[in-house]
Amino acid sequence: MLLFSLLLSLFFLLLLLLRSTARRQGRLPPGSLGLPFIGETLQLISAYKTENPEPFIDDRVARYGPVFTTHLFGEPTVFSADPETNRLILQNEGRLFESSYPGSISNLLGRHSLLLMRGSLHKRMHSLTMSFANNAIIRDHLLLDVDRLVRLNMESWSDRVLLMEESKKITFQLTVKQLMSFDPCEWTENLMKEYMLVIEGFFTIPLPIFSTTYRRAIKARGKVAEALSLVVRDRRREVEVGEIKNDMLAALLDEEGGGGGFSDEEIVDFMLALLVAGYETTSTIMTLAVKFLTEHPLALAQLKDEHEEIKAKRGENEALQWEDYKAMCFTQCVVNETLRVANIISGVFRRAMTDVTIKEGYTIPKGYKVFASLRGVHMDHHHFKDARAFNPWRWQGQQNGLGATSATNMFNPFGGGPRRCPGAELARVELSVFLHRLVTQFSWEATEQDKVVFFPTTRTQKRYPITIRRLKRGVEE
Ligand code: HEM
Repeated sequence: MLLFSLLLSLFFLLLLLLRSTARRQGRLPPGSLGLPFIGETLQLISAYKTENPEPFIDDRVARYGPVFTTHLFGEPTVFSADPETNRLILQNEGRLFESSYPGSISNLLGRHSLLLMRGSLHKRMHSLTMSFANNAIIRDHLLLDVDRLVRLNMESWSDRVLLMEESKKITFQLTVKQLMSFDPCEWTENLMKEYMLVIEGFFTIPLPIFSTTYRRAIKARGKVAEALSLVVRDRRREVEVGEIKNDMLAALLDEEGGGGGFSDEEIVDFMLALLVAGYETTSTIMTLAVKFLTEHPLALAQLKDEHEEIKAKRGENEALQWEDYKAMCFTQCVVNETLRVANIISGVFRRAMTDVTIKEGYTIPKGYKVFASLRGVHMDHHHFKDARAFNPWRWQGQQNGLGATSATNMFNPFGGGPRRCPGAELARVELSVFLHRLVTQFSWEATEQDKVVFFPTTRTQKRYPITIRRLKRGVEE
């Protein structure tokens, strides 16, 4: 009898516990966790082998709505293609959610990179980064560098150009200049070669025993870190004798850090990650803008008219000024539309720091991985009319390109909240200047059909080869 009542009390206790856990956890957004361990990872990978930019999300949004639960890369994950939920996730960084990137990324970037920093240190370093890529710095310094480096690179173009490679060269040189004041030389070229190996490592299985690419990337990371450490050491010596440069490295050396300044390791991690963030993204957007324009001759013609007008005012060999950039109105429509359709950063990873209640009473449990899909929103016909088409005119006469009634949080190619991309304006300027010099100096044809690949990152499959012809006073030579 005693045993029976003990078992009965245990049963009720268990029931109570389960009920309170269920109440605490609330309802998970609908979805499927797929198979044990692998979840829906294989479905994700095979879906992206098609040409549809968002097959995995399309399918699930149709079944469950814009916020759904899945299981990817070993973890249950809540996916959001909903603007309101994305805004909640982005704006509550450090309060309800924190950034949480896969192991492959943190091993290669280094633990002191901005993307992985948290708390007050992140806040300080984010604003330090902003102070080196804000409008005033771009207007007074960086715009000149961007224009100079774009022209320098284009001077050496012959008739066949692999556009993806050329844009990478330009953006890499620019980021190196911004970070540590080096102009292109043999050293920067060698650094870039190692860098490309590091980048390849981001998109493979992060296990050295299984992946040669990952092993090679880790080794290349070591070499890049060593090269950057030497630069930091030299610079410390220069500072001691009173030589001060005006670049990001100088600002890092000048910061207090966690008491007594940042260590070399911290500075190297920070610079290494900034090089990744600034170079791969912007070069891809340059290539894709040209691809989309080539496929839309009316947009290209209108863009060309705008830039010929600027060239006529400024003169062919004069450096572009801030007011020229500000006069590039249709160019900004092209930039927005390229960012929207290409979605270089398709979304951001976070982890719930506590149980978070979202729309329709669903709960994201504490510890759950969250993916706020920026592309999911940008590609949704409910938010953008005929969303899968490249149509730069949709942005004309509208600040956000969405029409007066739409909410403002639909278009977020640079993320949002405390982690919003500090290079957003710089990326726009780089793309605008690149387009200016391209359309006023060259005509071109795509040499081969090249398609956009959306997984694991957005890129062109064949580095977008084009045949170019130099123009003389706006017409072919
Ligand atoms: C088309 C070009 C670019 C796109 C689409 C892009 C997009 C983004 C996005 C979506 C994030 C947010 C990541 C998150 O919330 O977890 C981000 C962060 C970041 N971006 Fe960019 N970016 C671009 C260019 C640049 C450039 C040129 C720089 C260099 C100055 C840069 C530096 C960074 C850094 C350092 C972060 C981390 C910010 C933080 O965690 O506080 N990006 N970028």
